[in-house]
Amino acid sequence: MKELATAPHGLHGSLTVPGDKSISHRAVMLGAISKGETVIHHFLDGDDCLSTLKAFNDMGVKSERNGGTVVIHGNGIDALNKPAQPLDMGNSGTTTRLLMGILAGRDFETRLFGDASLQKRPMKRVSEPLSHLGAQVELTDNGTLPAVIYGQKLHGTNYQMKVASAQVKSALIFAALQADTPSTIIEKLPTRNHTEIMLRQFGAEIETGADQKTIHVMPQPELTGQTVEVPGDVSSAAFFLTAGAIVPDSKIKLERVNLNPTRTGIIDVLQKMGADLQIEALPTKGEPLGNITIATSQLKPIQIEAEDIPAVIDELPLVALLAACADGTSSIRGAEELRVKETDRIQTVVAELRKLGVQVEELADGMIIEGRNEWAINNDQLDSYGDHRIGMMDAIAALKAPQPLQLAHADAVSVSYPKFFQDLQKLLGGGQA
Ligand code: S3P
Repeated sequence: MKELATAPHGLHGSLTVPGDKSISHRAVMLGAISKGETVIHHFLDGDDCLSTLKAFNDMGVKSERNGGTVVIHGNGIDALNKPAQPLDMGNSGTTTRLLMGILAGRDFETRLFGDASLQKRPMKRVSEPLSHLGAQVELTDNGTLPAVIYGQKLHGTNYQMKVASAQVKSALIFAALQADTPSTIIEKLPTRNHTEIMLRQFGAEIETGADQKTIHVMPQPELTGQTVEVPGDVSSAAFFLTAGAIVPDSKIKLERVNLNPTRTGIIDVLQKMGADLQIEALPTKGEPLGNITIATSQLKPIQIEAEDIPAVIDELPLVALLAACADGTSSIRGAEELRVKETDRIQTVVAELRKLGVQVEELADGMIIEGRNEWAINNDQLDSYGDHRIGMMDAIAALKAPQPLQLAHADAVSVSYPKFFQDLQKLLGGGQA
């Protein structure tokens, strides 16, 4: 049990949040399948990205890690070796699903397994679309890990996606790169496009249509190692943006945060709720980047619909928390994808908010939240349930609670933000981080 801090004097100061998780994964993957050296700066050393790095090491890719800098010595995709042991995906859905696309076109067989939470998550959403390119991926009868990927010669396809998922899209792109003819992938809704942006930097020919949903992939590119500057993770910044908005007497600056519009739904939500927020765009050669300053304000309720979901998918627990502090009734709909995250995040968010005395109705595809200024805590034992984002949401909620709260399974935060509690402590002390 971890004793969570309260913030009677608010949060103050500035913070550079850790590197983006999605971009860190992709930088390792692209470095590993390209020829030449890839240098990654501000790499996220969370457990998930380390699972990706380890998986490629196990396939013979050499790398060095020194603090936040990782150097990958790639020899091209054909140089990947069959791993001696099954690959351990840990807790990481991104590692698993993107790797399936890479491994589908290799000339060897690979086995993947994960931790108890990952082994419950749906993988047929990847294996089924990959089969349209000729991939052969075997799952359990429940459509989960462990998986066996029997590498095959792949063929181009024209595929309409059934789920709005950047992981599934990215797996399809990785498979399409290895096919014999071009492919077209059509998304259900536009999702994060880091794979496409980074692949272009490494030399691939990928076109995105004006609808932001149609992606043309030219096969067999010559990929060359690059330098990647990983921006701060807006999903990590989001915890402190939320704290800055809801904890009385706060003012915080988050520096060098990724502002890719496929990811900044939380900023749109905060603005719509009337948060006191300023963005200062910074010059960049890669993904958009900026500093964000936020100060406490009274929030208005918000209504989130299906088309809003992809750009805020990982921040929906925080949207629920913001709504719990707003002046009125908010709703989150069309968010059934939350049920298949590290935990069923509709169930876990509802459970945690109810402990705080928040009135919240659980729906099949979301929730309805009654906001109020003062919570009447009815259970001071919060729980991450092993889900990093739920644990951090709990810690942010606790800042505003009228009494100290405890958190079970607090170490789950290391999946995406190993220094979360230290960074929070710095803002409680009002200093520079
Ligand atoms: C991710 C995509 C999203 C997101 C996850 C990271 C990625 O998952 O929730 O944290 O890096 O592509 P889905 O593709 O399943 O929506």
